[in-house]
Amino acid sequence: MDHLKRVTDEFTRQAQTFAVWAEKVDADVGTRFGSALGEAAHGRLIDVACGPGVVTAALAPNAASIIAFDATDEMLAKAKARCVKAGLRNVEFKSGDAEHLPFADAEFDGAVTRAALHHFADPQRAISEMFRVLRPGGVAIFADVTSSENADESRLHNAIERLRDPSHVRMLPASELDSYARQAGFRDLEAAAWDIDRELEEWFSIVSDPARVEPIRTIIHALAESGRSAGVGLSVKNGQVVFFHRWRFLKAVKPAEH
Ligand SMILES: C[S@@+](CC[C@H](N)C(=O)[O-])C[C@H]1O[C@@H](n2cnc3c(N)ncnc32)[C@H](O)[C@@H]1O
Repeated sequence: MDHLKRVTDEFTRQAQTFAVWAEKVDADVGTRFGSALGEAAHGRLIDVACGPGVVTAALAPNAASIIAFDATDEMLAKAKARCVKAGLRNVEFKSGDAEHLPFADAEFDGAVTRAALHHFADPQRAISEMFRVLRPGGVAIFADVTSSENADESRLHNAIERLRDPSHVRMLPASELDSYARQAGFRDLEAAAWDIDRELEEWFSIVSDPARVEPIRTIIHALAESGRSAGVGLSVKNGQVVFFHRWRFLKAVKPAEH
């Protein structure tokens, strides 16, 4: 199956459950993205793979304008409903593929993407597209969950993620994400990282597919009980399987002389 079709099928199904999670995953989303963007936060912005528009709606009040961009129409409908409810009038909603952004070179002051790079078939291409559409001096934010720098643990972690959500491609080790940004041409990289504890059944519930998760539950319990952490702290606590997602929040600048 075409990968983008897999993404849109999956996020059409997940639109409601994912929107609930997206709202609560980061209580500081507006200040976090806004202060990292700096002056660019007041300019023309794009939220790539915006999903239900939580980041879009947090940035819009201070921006001149913002494009909410996503491949899944149900997600764009959620983003639109959120922005309309908030009385935001400077948001435009556009459907398409992050690897082929339908925008001119140097159109934006800031470009952000959250929790989406791991769904892209070619993340380097999407990062390079964000570089292309930024003006010289423009700022990009890449926020996503990363995987272990240990290749075996990274492979195991991503295999588990892919079984739960077939539109998952690969959570990158932090060093690989940074190197993709540099290869695209970005400079002045600044990163922050933090862990968010996950509870297995809550994480399963987002994909809304009990038949799919039933065999994965068995595998994950066996891994946790045998001490395989998958680089995400997979373990059993009080009879419950727990793990964490390690987030990376990477700010990168398109050089002014570009
Ligand atoms: C996990 S959600 C994250 C949504 C949002 N950025 C957030 O943080 O709440 C991933 C989103 O990426 C979108 N997506 C995945 N691959 C895409 C692509 N190649 N082009 C555009 N959107 C894509 C999906 O439709 C989905 O809405």
